Amino acid sequence: MNATLERWTTRRAFILAVTGAAVGLGNIWRFPYITGENGGAAFLVLYIAFVLLLGLPVMMAEILVGRAGRRAPMQSLGYLAGQAGASRHWRWLGLFGAFTVFCILSFYSVVSGWSIEFLITAVNGDFVGRSAAEIGAGFDAFLADPRRLTFNHTLFLVMTMTVVAAGVAKGLERLNNLLMPLLYLLLVLLAIYAATTDGFVPALAWLFKPDLSVITPLVVMHAMGHAFFTLAVGACALMAYGAYMPEHQSLPRAAGAVAVLDVSVALLAGIAIFSVVFSQGMDPGEGPGLMFVTLPVAFAELPWGALWLSIFFLLLLLATWTSSINLAEPMVATLQGLGLGRGKASAVVGIAVWLLGLLSVLSFSNLAEWRPLFGMNVFELVTTIPTEVFLPVGGLLIACFAAWVMPQQESRAALGVSESGFLLWRTVVRWISIPLAAVVLAAGLL
Ligand code: PHE
Repeated sequence: MNATLERWTTRRAFILAVTGAAVGLGNIWRFPYITGENGGAAFLVLYIAFVLLLGLPVMMAEILVGRAGRRAPMQSLGYLAGQAGASRHWRWLGLFGAFTVFCILSFYSVVSGWSIEFLITAVNGDFVGRSAAEIGAGFDAFLADPRRLTFNHTLFLVMTMTVVAAGVAKGLERLNNLLMPLLYLLLVLLAIYAATTDGFVPALAWLFKPDLSVITPLVVMHAMGHAFFTLAVGACALMAYGAYMPEHQSLPRAAGAVAVLDVSVALLAGIAIFSVVFSQGMDPGEGPGLMFVTLPVAFAELPWGALWLSIFFLLLLLATWTSSINLAEPMVATLQGLGLGRGKASAVVGIAVWLLGLLSVLSFSNLAEWRPLFGMNVFELVTTIPTEVFLPVGGLLIACFAAWVMPQQESRAALGVSESGFLLWRTVVRWISIPLAAVVLAAGLL
């Protein structure tokens, strides 16, 4: 095992790579629909609280483990546990993370495939002049066609695994970093446009005026899961990136920058999408199709709408591409650790993910009513359990490892902050993040 991995050369490169992993479907697709399903502002308040109290401190924990270990996740955990005189079994946490991202990538690829389909439809100008009802009906017909879903799912996965196998993720990240500001700008433009519609004021009220009575233990658990998902925390995926972090970079500052970017993308998307929802009299709790129906409606009303919409889906695709590479990486690294070559490992991961993804594809047609667990079909299961249970459990264990198991001087050096900064981080993780995650999980599951 190569203990001295190559480092990213600049601080910016590290922040941008982590942002590439964080910003994706979670912000633009999942955040609006999950907020819509869970009562709006109250959910938003919980989600932001979880980002601050849990997501951020645990993100630092995860990256610092990678930075201290300077190896692939399983090896870093095993090595550091050995150094601390703790059980080597900690390394299985890396495997658990790989299993988590396996489940997540299976639906991530299917939904990113929807963006491919929408990109093509947008380029053809097929959304222009169509009403919200027509676009909604078109989306439903698309979902009911497993062949089209499979084609797009396959295409997206091939795109992802090719980059992973060729080891050119850095090149793609560079492109992404160049274009991410453009995605941001487009969302700002959309939000400004949203301000001119009559759905804007109700949208702001829905997003920012909390009705606390909607909060239940399950809503709290959804908010916690989403905080982990959107920040890409809890699956050892960021741990892998931490291994490449430059020596003299403040980890808290980098993590803070990523979180601010990530949350602001979600908020902009939320403002744009809910303005359309309310101006068109749609249902905020519409579910996973929310973004795919509202954004074409919004863009269709703008001058040059088809062009903007095409650019939007192109940028979204790029954002999901970099996230899915980050999702695939821990699995490929794990298989490589077992002695497989990079190309073979990528092929194995790609095929396994593809097969599981087929069950998500069919959850909208033939297998819609096949509910193997908890009354949920496969798509509902893979979008819920790995995100809301596995990521928090993984995050909790990573946090325990970094704040309780690792020797203090080791974790402090890897965090790259002063003594008082370190103590603040460790106190928050030990006495707020860990108990909070444990209580929310217990309340939601029991
Ligand atoms: N954060 C990504 C998104 O919001 C998803 C992701 C989760 C990526 C976990 C890596 C690990 O789309």
